[in-house]
Amino acid sequence: MTKKNRTELATLFAQANGAIDPQTGGVVPPIQSATTFVRDESYALVSPDHIYARDDNDLVRLGEDILARAEHGEDGLLFPSGMAAVAAVMRTVPNGGRIVMQSGIYWGATKWTREFCVRRAIELVEVDCADPDALRAVGGSADIVWIETPSNPYLKTIDIAASADIANTMGAALVVDSTAATPILSQPLDHGAEFVMHSATKAINGHSDVLAGFLACADAGSPRWQAICTDRHDAGAVMGSFEAWLLIRGMRTLPLRVERMSATALAVADYLSCHDAVETVLYPGLPADPGHAVAARQMSGGFGSLLSFQVNGGRQAALKCVGAMQLFKRATSLGGVESLVEHRHTIEDTVPENLLRLSIGIEARDDLISDLREALSHTC
Ligand SMILES: Cc1ncc(COP(=O)(O)O)c(C=O)c1O
Repeated sequence: MTKKNRTELATLFAQANGAIDPQTGGVVPPIQSATTFVRDESYALVSPDHIYARDDNDLVRLGEDILARAEHGEDGLLFPSGMAAVAAVMRTVPNGGRIVMQSGIYWGATKWTREFCVRRAIELVEVDCADPDALRAVGGSADIVWIETPSNPYLKTIDIAASADIANTMGAALVVDSTAATPILSQPLDHGAEFVMHSATKAINGHSDVLAGFLACADAGSPRWQAICTDRHDAGAVMGSFEAWLLIRGMRTLPLRVERMSATALAVADYLSCHDAVETVLYPGLPADPGHAVAARQMSGGFGSLLSFQVNGGRQAALKCVGAMQLFKRATSLGGVESLVEHRHTIEDTVPENLLRLSIGIEARDDLISDLREALSHTC
């Protein structure tokens, strides 16, 4: 992304274009809580764009417009959670179809997709897409190729352009879960993806108080996008007004937060990679990271707020470290203003027992590093 793009994003989010209340001139939009809208004596709509809240929510439309523009998409849709957005894409695959999915990604997406594919007799191929040759070797045709970059919790970087080329040869739509990259650091549609997906619960909202999902598309006229729009409309997986209002409020500071969190995450990753008690640091911002060159090409302005590290001494050492942390809150999720730490193995037993995942917030960098220094001193 160019410097000009970054400037445009800063202004787009700060102004949240259109977020003026036309009735009062208020500089933030009001929350419309009505679920239904009246007609006049001749049964004409009082407002042509307002019939029923499942279809007509101005705050949802505003949030979709801002995020679609940030992603350089032709259109965008908000969902009541990231998983609802994942499911909306997967449901476009016909019974008996084929999905190629990156292995070792967000566990919730993997689990749901595995079960969905069994129910619908869809062939699911899980492959390490960080290796384009492995993805190419899958061969055959497919409906969807699903990648997540950087991935959660292993922070693998996937080459979006290379994956798009391969998906193309399979006749598949490339979908990128770009949650950890945010629309500030990467625009997957510019690299050939058909759809970009976000758990907007994370950095887009940024305050750990809204569940939300988002999809943007490269081609609003494509049958798959039209099917997603129809399904959301008819099946009703929509956000409420208050959530949309909170999301827009959070988004207005997105560029600032992402810039700060990414810079701090890089400093933390640097610190950890020189620490004797640390076995490995997984973060694409580190020059030694296997995905660094690709990440530097397809991300701009930073490498995100998510990182993982493995503690020397196995499970006990990792749990002692996590238990001694004072500033990092022991909780799942990522992308909020407060820093979090997660012993991922406790939730997902295939993750190494000595791996700790950090979500870096906006606290002072030195305070976070001091907390880690102190906590790591408890491991030996
Ligand atoms: C990378 C990624 N994608 C999708 C999701 C699912 O999002 P949500 O929790 O908003 O349903 C998560 C949640 O942690 C995630 O980390």
